[in-house]
Amino acid sequence: MNRKYRKTVIAGNWKMNKTPTETKAFMTEFKTIMPRGRWCDVALCVPAVCIPAAVRTMRETRIGIGAENCNANASGAYTGEIAANMLLDAGCKYVILGHSERRQYFAETDETVNKKVLKVLAEGLKPIVCVGESLQQKQTNITNEVVCMQTKAALCGVSPAKVTDVVIAYEPIWAIGTGMTATATDANRTIAAIRAAIRELFGDAADQVRILYGGSMNDKNATELMSQPEIDGGLIGGASLVAEKFEKVINYHG
Ligand code: 13P
Repeated sequence: MNRKYRKTVIAGNWKMNKTPTETKAFMTEFKTIMPRGRWCDVALCVPAVCIPAAVRTMRETRIGIGAENCNANASGAYTGEIAANMLLDAGCKYVILGHSERRQYFAETDETVNKKVLKVLAEGLKPIVCVGESLQQKQTNITNEVVCMQTKAALCGVSPAKVTDVVIAYEPIWAIGTGMTATATDANRTIAAIRAAIRELFGDAADQVRILYGGSMNDKNATELMSQPEIDGGLIGGASLVAEKFEKVINYHG
């Protein structure tokens, strides 16, 4: 299936940036400049305390607000954690799961990512599941093995009916925040391998799963990356923190 049958997703990941007050200011500005067309899904995933300000300011727009993580349990004695149903009730549509920064600093594993994916889907949210290889893994030519294994592990036990709610983000770790992007051709090839791995588990439903590229994607390189047939959108870090830049990424072909 050609990419034109999959709706583009452009998602921002703010990481640990912006206060609720700054969130309100960003959203207010972004609302005035964001493209009006309906051709792509736009999400902004923000720190948990910024979710209420983001949801309130973006009410009645087509921008979906998301979180950057959640706990796999329904509720209980998990001090400091946030459950998927709380995010849903707060107005979230998306949750980023398994970002490499969480895998690196917060002991996230393929197993915990999988549990979170199952919980988030059961609550009716869309998980944006991050996979990606380290520089060393790239240099030893095991990129495809790494990302396919991470993808299959994250999707273990997902029902075929729900898999199309999952968004995968291919983020080479060496490209995150470094200004180095994978070449468009390399990113396209790796994303094709991820899709083939999904096809092994879910058959033709793989054609409907959106797979994004992330890692130093910005207003300058978005058009080239997005011209690739397998790249269904972007997960944008730094460039999503400035309303004008994020708008340009969304408007990549405009
Ligand atoms: P940058 O766009 O800042 O490289 O971050 C990418 C990322 O980690 C998005 O999740």
